[in-house]
Amino acid sequence: MTYTHFLLNNLRAIVDKKAVSYHTPGHKNGRLAPEALKNLWGQSFWQYDLTEIDSLDNLHFASGCIRESQRQAAAIWHVKETYYLINGTTVGLQAAIMACCRGQKVFVPRHVHRSIYHSLILAQAEPIYLPIALDDELSLPLGVAAETLADYIRRYPEVKTLLMVNPTYQGLTWENEKLIKLAKASGLTVIVDEAHGAHLHFSPQLPMSMLDLGADLVVQSWHKMLPVMTQGSVLHAGYDYQGVELAPILSLLQSTSPSYLLMASLEAGSIFMGQEGAEMIAQSLHELTVFFQKLACLNTIKRFYRSEYGQDPFKLYLVSSKYSGAELAELLRERFRIYVEMNDSVGVLLILPLKVNQDELESLYAALVAIDEASSLLADVALSPTFYSRSIPQQAVSLAEAFYRTKQFLPIQSAVGKVCGQFLLKYPPGIPLAVPGERIDDNILALWLANEGKSSDMIQVLV
Ligand SMILES: Cc1ncc(COP(=O)(O)O)c(C=O)c1O
Repeated sequence: MTYTHFLLNNLRAIVDKKAVSYHTPGHKNGRLAPEALKNLWGQSFWQYDLTEIDSLDNLHFASGCIRESQRQAAAIWHVKETYYLINGTTVGLQAAIMACCRGQKVFVPRHVHRSIYHSLILAQAEPIYLPIALDDELSLPLGVAAETLADYIRRYPEVKTLLMVNPTYQGLTWENEKLIKLAKASGLTVIVDEAHGAHLHFSPQLPMSMLDLGADLVVQSWHKMLPVMTQGSVLHAGYDYQGVELAPILSLLQSTSPSYLLMASLEAGSIFMGQEGAEMIAQSLHELTVFFQKLACLNTIKRFYRSEYGQDPFKLYLVSSKYSGAELAELLRERFRIYVEMNDSVGVLLILPLKVNQDELESLYAALVAIDEASSLLADVALSPTFYSRSIPQQAVSLAEAFYRTKQFLPIQSAVGKVCGQFLLKYPPGIPLAVPGERIDDNILALWLANEGKSSDMIQVLV
């Protein structure tokens, strides 16, 4: 396949013309860019921050270079349509949920990111929550068991849509292949939050992208895994998608001034993956295998890996027997300038680059060896429960209604028995323990306190 920078070429033609700007944005091709930023970012960056002029098409009525660019991305990911998003996966999930289950019941696994709950509120959809399984040792979320979904399909024949997460924040896909096959066989429309899975399509050695298993709508945060600017995401419509037109819904939700920097970055990121993705990932996986073998020799730090969970190797979750997740993250940051994606009470999560850099990998390994050796004589830390729950709190008021109701603040300890008025979560990972409308119980309080929460923390409850 040959690749074309449809959007970038048109941007460049305007920059090369030295066009004089009597249009937005107000920095006038960077001429008025504040000095502090111009010095740091250079002039050319600003010049590409253009708007819907001349040949630059319009994201909301794409018929020119943006349309061509999106079509090319669709061909790279083998889907019917790809829509560029300039407000992250958040807006793609909102659009997908509004398109498929506005005002209807929908199956929602309990380990979803807060953006899905927000979308349910916007779409006035009614979630039927699916309980999730947790890893027995570390209580990380695995997802929904296929037999659980089968049971819910029997009990709720009126539900027509399933939401899925592929992979989890820690890179687990567990029974997702079984789930989507079951859902498709049962006639459900499948929407997948693949925020962390934009790269999965490019290697048979990785867990499968749900796109390749016939999901209807899949939203991917390209900015999370690919070399794309923050907020750059896409909504893919699979070949089976038969629902309402997506473009008008995206227009309803997205800015009428989409950033051309962001859109050009999405285009360049898609070409990068088309040209180099498969080979680069194969090479990196080869190098990571050696790295993981070395890690396995450490005494106090272990990589969380279970072959039966269908794990994405680019997500490295490390657990020390001597430090909590927060302490390990702090040591890596303060002593070795290594900034991790997130930590929870138990471990730290690192997102490895799709193109492995040997020097960086060596430094990471050296840091882990140093921590391992220096901590070998310390007492072991007790494993505390992570911020995920198998049980689903009792729903007292519907999510959408509770969201808009009047609230008051109470210390969390006094809130047990009351109806939650907010999303009770830690960010990251942004997966709520309880959401508006649910009754706060002892389990929620215990998990809050086990994860650096205090009994005096103020939370919102319904009045
Ligand atoms: C699993 C998951 N879904 C959705 C989102 C929202 O994605 P975005 O930040 O691209 O809007 C996130 C963000 O962290 C996420 O982790």
